[in-house]
Amino acid sequence: MNNALLKVEEIDAFYGDFQAVQQASFAVGDKEIVSVIGTNGAGKTTLMKVIGGTLAARGGKVRFEDTDITGWPPHKIVDLGISQVPEGGKVFGRMSVKDNLIMGSYTAKARRGARAALERVYELFPMLKEKADQDAGSLSGGQRQMVAIGRALMSNPRLVFFDEISLGLAPTVIKDIYARIKQLNREGITIILVEQDVKRSLRTCETAYVMLKGKVVLSGKSTDLTEESVSRAYFGM
Ligand SMILES: Nc1ncnc2c1ncn2[C@@H]1O[C@H](COP(=O)(O)OP(=O)(O)OP(=O)(O)O)[C@@H](O)[C@H]1O
Ligand SMILES: [Mg+2]
Repeated sequence: MNNALLKVEEIDAFYGDFQAVQQASFAVGDKEIVSVIGTNGAGKTTLMKVIGGTLAARGGKVRFEDTDITGWPPHKIVDLGISQVPEGGKVFGRMSVKDNLIMGSYTAKARRGARAALERVYELFPMLKEKADQDAGSLSGGQRQMVAIGRALMSNPRLVFFDEISLGLAPTVIKDIYARIKQLNREGITIILVEQDVKRSLRTCETAYVMLKGKVVLSGKSTDLTEESVSRAYFGM
């Protein structure tokens, strides 16, 4: 892909001596929805950590438009326009919903746009405005995920990656959250969906990458991939 917004090239990532990601490459077009599919331990989160700057790769490159962001610190990556909804939501339970959201605009650049960003988040999730002063810990799992999504939007990102956003949520809540993700995409935000659910991923994304044991083993347009071929790659069959 020539006009990729994000390009990940031949990433090697380790925890000590253990190699969790091996020569992983993928590309995300501007305003696209891409999914990274893989079973437990496939290396999805590790790859997202490398993109977000919280884990240094031992090899490979990450490019955002024309900028080589390999090894950049997280706050600079956020300022450039990449934001993440981490695995498990991870809200601060004893802080108010509003303060959780404000945490998402911690960089100097984001702080300047925080007021408008907060209004936009409240428009997207009116429930968060209603519960703005409540402790985030008092919310349901689905509502906490909405706080996590809202927080990621507070820096006015161009690209957001969602790490297993649907884990542990009821089907109706998942459907609702996916509808919001598609809405964000229509508003111009590029999306990376990290998922274990093959069916839902293929239904939502334009391009899919399947990871197995640290490697990207299959990729293609979701319309060209069958559920069977993805499932086989997913389980390494
Ligand atoms: N902090 C860590 N220290 C050591 N090994 C780790 C660490 N985090 C992950 N690993 C290992 O790296 C491999 C990839 O893990 P990773 O979390 O990236 O997988 P994943 O695809 O996100 O899985 P899941 O779907 O369960 O979240 C696994 O074998 C895991 O045990
Ligand atoms: Mg993970």
